[in-house]
Amino acid sequence: MNSKFDATHPASDRRNSTARSQALFERALQVMPGGSTRATIFFHPHPPYAAHGQGSRIVDVDGNVILDFTNNFFSAIHGHANPRIVAAVTEAAARGISFGLPTEVEVDLAEHICARSPVFETIRFSNSGSEAVLSAIKAARAFTGRPAIAKIEGAYHGSYDHVEVSLDSKPGNWGEAAPAGTKYARGTPDAVVGDTVILPFNDADAAVRLLEAHGSRLAALLFDPLPSRVGLIPATPGFVAAIREATQRLGIVLIVDEIVCFRLSHGGAHPLWDLKPDLVTLGKIIGGGLPIGAVTGRRDIMEMFDVRPGKPAVPHGGTFTANPVTMAAGLASLRQLDQPAYDHLNRLGDHFRQRVTAAIAGTGLPAQVTGMGSLFRIHPHRRPVHDYRTAYPTDAEKALMGRLHPWLVEQGFLLTPNLSGALSTPMTEAEVDAVAEALAEGFAWAAAAGRAAA
Ligand SMILES: Cc1ncc(COP(=O)(O)O)c(C=O)c1O
Repeated sequence: MNSKFDATHPASDRRNSTARSQALFERALQVMPGGSTRATIFFHPHPPYAAHGQGSRIVDVDGNVILDFTNNFFSAIHGHANPRIVAAVTEAAARGISFGLPTEVEVDLAEHICARSPVFETIRFSNSGSEAVLSAIKAARAFTGRPAIAKIEGAYHGSYDHVEVSLDSKPGNWGEAAPAGTKYARGTPDAVVGDTVILPFNDADAAVRLLEAHGSRLAALLFDPLPSRVGLIPATPGFVAAIREATQRLGIVLIVDEIVCFRLSHGGAHPLWDLKPDLVTLGKIIGGGLPIGAVTGRRDIMEMFDVRPGKPAVPHGGTFTANPVTMAAGLASLRQLDQPAYDHLNRLGDHFRQRVTAAIAGTGLPAQVTGMGSLFRIHPHRRPVHDYRTAYPTDAEKALMGRLHPWLVEQGFLLTPNLSGALSTPMTEAEVDAVAEALAEGFAWAAAAGRAAA
């Protein structure tokens, strides 16, 4: 086994071959379009195939050790093979993997999450964050009797048609006076775009004007206060206060998407902005690494899912929803997330941003790091970032990231292709210092490689 960051080979930059990953990818190409099941994890020429993981590290099928800063897209907050989660999953599976009946552990997890914030009055589980978001939107439509939603330009909320609108708007099509609704997946119906109003991030006056202009047909505003694809910069307190006031006044359900940022504190993200959402969507860390999503919030809106009066306003089921293995994993994950765990993660996140900032400054290259708590994103420029447009990389910056990301993987550091990541509880300053040095070295290498190719 080998990588730059490997306690048994600390100074080595040798790497095993990637022959086995390559062979797997060639097999995959025969049976899966593009050889992949997830658009988000593909990169050229092919990703390494994971063999096993422990704590902060993954070992790939060729024996290379990779320090994992994606933690499966911010979901594995305790890293890999966490002993308490593994034990909980093993015990639950031995009792029966899923039933066409509810189980006690579903009630346990629901109680645990609802106890974390007074906003979480009741909760409804699903199998993914995408499903949680679409369920929340359906509940908001049923509650308000209105068809449309509003969302922030560039913000990611999963794969439901409406929330994909404007996901990859570009300078050529993103509009001037107000952000344009642009299609993401080819074939998206025009009606979907027509029922989705796009707001600029952190521009309170413009956002409130748009909410007022479309208010009578808006069921919901879907809002992430730390949206990763918008640049992983926090919403300003003034923006949050303005959209909360406007949505309340206009009868629009405010859905706060905490599928990623719930990890910021014991009570989630909304308390950090002093925000009282109507609904909150959750996912990722609440499943301990297994597929999950949840909608939670105001009892009167959540009642749209209530089956008891007969046909609910919003019928919602799912063969695997709230299966006991996922519920047990989620409970084991969240029970380990006490205040010392949050303090550790948040301190390490601050250390990360300081170290990366210092390491990049040492190179004189234009780059910066954004983020909050245990979440980070590296930008290949020094422009002040306050919304999707200021974060949006130029073609040259995209090319640089396209060189840097595989180079980092080769050196044994896994970040997402847009250079974002999340820390996990088993990490220490040693891992953070190692990736800071690798990033500085990688930026210098990628810039030089770009100049050589020009
Ligand atoms: C903010 C946000 N919302 C929703 C989702 C969708 O969650 P899932 O991938 O579980 O469908 C994601 C996934 O990354 C996300 O980051």
